[in-house]
Amino acid sequence: MSSFGKVGVIGGGLMGSGIVEVLARAGADVVNVEVSAEAAEAARGRVSHSLRRAVSRGKLEQSDADAVLERIRFVDSLDDLADRDLVVEAASEDEETKLELFRRVGALLDSDEAILASNTSSIPIVKLGAVSGRPDRVMGVHFFNPAPVMKLVELIPSLTTSEQTLERVRGWVSEELGKQPIDATDRAGFIVNSLLVPYLLSAIRMYEAGYASAADIDRGMVLGCGHPMGPLALSDLIGLDTLKAIGESMYEEFKEPLYSPPPLLDRMVDAGLLGQKTGHGFYPYD
Ligand code: CAA
Repeated sequence: MSSFGKVGVIGGGLMGSGIVEVLARAGADVVNVEVSAEAAEAARGRVSHSLRRAVSRGKLEQSDADAVLERIRFVDSLDDLADRDLVVEAASEDEETKLELFRRVGALLDSDEAILASNTSSIPIVKLGAVSGRPDRVMGVHFFNPAPVMKLVELIPSLTTSEQTLERVRGWVSEELGKQPIDATDRAGFIVNSLLVPYLLSAIRMYEAGYASAADIDRGMVLGCGHPMGPLALSDLIGLDTLKAIGESMYEEFKEPLYSPPPLLDRMVDAGLLGQKTGHGFYPYD
């Protein structure tokens, strides 16, 4: 049983469903909230698919996968979060959406001790805390995609987060989720995206300029630098809409041109070519 026995996750998309799986596999009772019953079913489908993959690779017993799924409720109402000890928000990377969620969920949590965390990559944690009514119990807890595989979690306290909140979450992440936390400051991009996003956007600019093919840009970084995947394939994995939103938030904060999404990225997002999740980005997917 987790020290946060009852946890909630808002959003069941790419990141949300991965986080739900991580928390349920760590033994927590999880409520996953989506915007509609249909979206909640789709989230259940994503978690089930991922668990099936773990079973087929011999990483998980079928009975354990069944038990993990039984620990998760997929719902379409935020009210189901009222009794949670910890809620991780993993909604789309949009400031207004997140502010509204923190306002509503901060007010409906029963326990004064309950903690609200955001998986945002770039939106100021301090603003989410300010509207939540519990600014000392709000912080950033940033997972990486695919969440069940990636070991890293960035911990981001804001100016108003209490030391006690940070230390409770740190213990939970490292001892119960088995992840490796690093501490970052509440600035758009934190540590990893501050370095990763300008690199990915530079690769897109290189491709846009006709400098090299997508396959050669990616092969260059895989074979030349030992990266597990090239920057265009990784952009497709992250989701081009998400990458664009993160770049925009970082540009908004620092006015650094390297963070500004190039026109090709804008056009691909407008066209619905969002990467793996829509079946087409820089590459086609089944
Ligand atoms: N969900 C769950 N598990 C997955 C998975 C997924 N979507 N994709 C792969 N896996 C698992 C596989 O089951 C396999 O597990 P086992 O080794 O236990 O059998 C393992 O990962 C390796 O998978 P594959 O053999 O199929 O493929 P691979 O060796 O090419 O690895 C990868 C796939 C793990 C995605 C690897 O290519 C990789 O690490 N890529 C880089 C990912 C990365 O950089 N992520 C960070 C993105 S940035 C971010 O998330 C932050 C942000 O805010 C934008």
